[in-house]
Amino acid sequence: MQKILVTGGCGYIGSHTVVDLLENGFEVISIDDNSRSTPYLLDGIEKITGKKIKNYKVDLKNFDETLAVFQENEDITGVIHFAAYKAVGESVAKPLDYYENNMFGLVNLLKCVKEFAIPNFVFSSSCTVYGNPDVVPVTEETPKKDAESPYGATKQMGERIITDFTHIENNSAILLRYFNPVGAHPSILIGELPLGRPQNLVPAITQTAIGKLPQMQVFGGDYPTRDGSCVRDYIHVSDIAHAHTLALQYLIDGRNKTKCDVFNLGSGNGVTVFEAINAFEKVSGQKLNYKVGPRRAGDVIAIYANNNYAVQALNWQIKFGLDDMMHTAWEWELKVKKDEVLMKKQNPALN
Ligand code: WQD
Repeated sequence: MQKILVTGGCGYIGSHTVVDLLENGFEVISIDDNSRSTPYLLDGIEKITGKKIKNYKVDLKNFDETLAVFQENEDITGVIHFAAYKAVGESVAKPLDYYENNMFGLVNLLKCVKEFAIPNFVFSSSCTVYGNPDVVPVTEETPKKDAESPYGATKQMGERIITDFTHIENNSAILLRYFNPVGAHPSILIGELPLGRPQNLVPAITQTAIGKLPQMQVFGGDYPTRDGSCVRDYIHVSDIAHAHTLALQYLIDGRNKTKCDVFNLGSGNGVTVFEAINAFEKVSGQKLNYKVGPRRAGDVIAIYANNNYAVQALNWQIKFGLDDMMHTAWEWELKVKKDEVLMKKQNPALN
């Protein structure tokens, strides 16, 4: 059984990928400092898979503590690296936090990969590396323009660091460029848990619908798109998660074409913000309270994927559509609220 280290295993995409890896016969450990997550999702992972995974509460910026995890687990054969800050708008306001956290963490991790000669490395990259593309859909060959945000810049730099690293080290990597991961595991036992006010669209929608937020703001209704709002490629988080398992197996089988193959992980469908809101209202039966406000700094106007390469080379079959994404996101929001009521009953201090 191959042991895989997942960094950010308590996070949104990390936890869903842990489930998929466990269901596909891998052994998994996690490094997550819980600065942007909580161990809450580990319970959900155990309920879904029947397996408890160990999380090392370590900040990747601390090299010694990170190295100690590898020293304790010398049988790691692969690393999937999620742990990073990932909010476009926040990165515009706090660039140094993003460069320090995302880049120092990655370099420390790669030093450990080198030290222990770990053969397989999968990197959580992002469609933000394309900047504002001139033509959509984007393929993996679409030229990368200047990133529109420090967050996007950290993903561009991360790709370059890993590419240079694999060219001189005896290992291979895969760069997975996510589009917009949304929704929750069909079991509704794990999902997205933004700490504080949600930065991303779908949790902002569901938290507004459930009453946690008074009103949602559409960041700009005057873009040059079919209805004036930005276009994105929403993809179910469980489809994204399974693509990681497929990518890892692709490396293990030695099917990679280069030392650092790149894949677009998107549905291939462009959806506007207003269309996403309409899909949510249709699926949930909730009328969303929102208003159209000013544009958000760092936003790309329109982007969606040509995902043919991932579908063919990884044999990736997308299972979930936009309605499934909205349905599972809403069901998860309802579950979290129910749990919060339960937790408050059990821990009056939380009231
Ligand atoms: C989507 C659209 C907003 C909130 C995300 C991740 C990033 C990367 C790429 C994986 C935009 C609009 C949002 C709100 C709104 N993914 N919006 N009101 O910026 O595309 O980036 O996907 O690596 O990590 O953050 O996603 O959900 O923030 O925004 O109108 O309250 O929704 O302007 O047009 P984004 P998002």
